Amino acid sequence: MKDYEEKRDLLAIDDFNKELPDLIDWAIKIKNGEGIVEDFRPLEGMSIGSIYEKPSTRTRVSFEVGVNKLGGQPLTLLSNDIQLGKSESIADTAAVLSRFLDGITYRCFNHSDVKELAKHSTVPVINALSDLHHPCQAAADLMTITENKEKVNGHISWVGDGNNVLHDLILASVSMGHDFSYATPSGYEPDETIIKRARKIAENTGAKISSTNDPEEAVQGAGVIYTDISVSMGEEHMTEKKHAFDGFQINEELVSNADSDYLFMHCLPAHRGEEVTDGVIDSKNSVVFDQAENRMWAQMSLLTYMCNENAWHTFRELF
Ligand code: CP
Ligand code: NVA
Repeated sequence: MKDYEEKRDLLAIDDFNKELPDLIDWAIKIKNGEGIVEDFRPLEGMSIGSIYEKPSTRTRVSFEVGVNKLGGQPLTLLSNDIQLGKSESIADTAAVLSRFLDGITYRCFNHSDVKELAKHSTVPVINALSDLHHPCQAAADLMTITENKEKVNGHISWVGDGNNVLHDLILASVSMGHDFSYATPSGYEPDETIIKRARKIAENTGAKISSTNDPEEAVQGAGVIYTDISVSMGEEHMTEKKHAFDGFQINEELVSNADSDYLFMHCLPAHRGEEVTDGVIDSKNSVVFDQAENRMWAQMSLLTYMCNENAWHTFRELF
């Protein structure tokens, strides 16, 4: 494994706020094939392990394929198959994995668990979704918005649960100067300390943040409308939660309040007919599958930056 002089972890997207525009720019370049050279293999000889305590389609496949494209070896470690959480602590798991791997991604229930893994790892750790944060999703989402910047206005509106996806989306959006409004049902607001962090970032960039319990108010003139499922992984027992989202569906009537060129965004998986209608998710305004693809390019940029920063800079200077 690589001996990092100073490793950095990505636990929440504001860990990389300063670099985010450049990371996105790099990701767009490699996606468009600009300057891709056959022998550009920044993760050659490196192994990246990904631990999953919850199911995943996009995150798992995008990390496996992305690491492979960068010349590295991806390993998927399903929590049922490893000792973590059964007969071995997070701290010991981190120490052991750091002897084999050059980077670790971790999808967990409690955010404190990915913090603990990062604390005891000597190699970079990437949060692949916790109950509080989903930074890789936010990086891909801001990449998707940047790709469409010529045709959409920069006002981003969230309608739905005050959850992990919203937390990193607002942190990333305001750091890149986008105004942000969100509508959540009463009692399902985002974490107050994370909103405070977003407000502090927005003070420096000039972005405006507003909140409401009225979806129609949140999407007035929006350039982007974003939603997610109402019941996240690990919340399946909260059967009463779904009913709180009556009136929060993204449908043709609601989106008529947005700009005509607005983008519809969703991290996926979507529950069609619940938080969004087929008419909206299948419309010309929907970029949900671009978002899914961009998970891979954005993570390739992040992994190269975190595991082989010299190669990241060299590539950037060349192209
Ligand atoms: N958006 C997202 O993280 O999808 P998966 O749960 O399929 O990884
Ligand atoms: N909020 C959802 C996002 C899934 C990608 C969850 O945590 O289950």
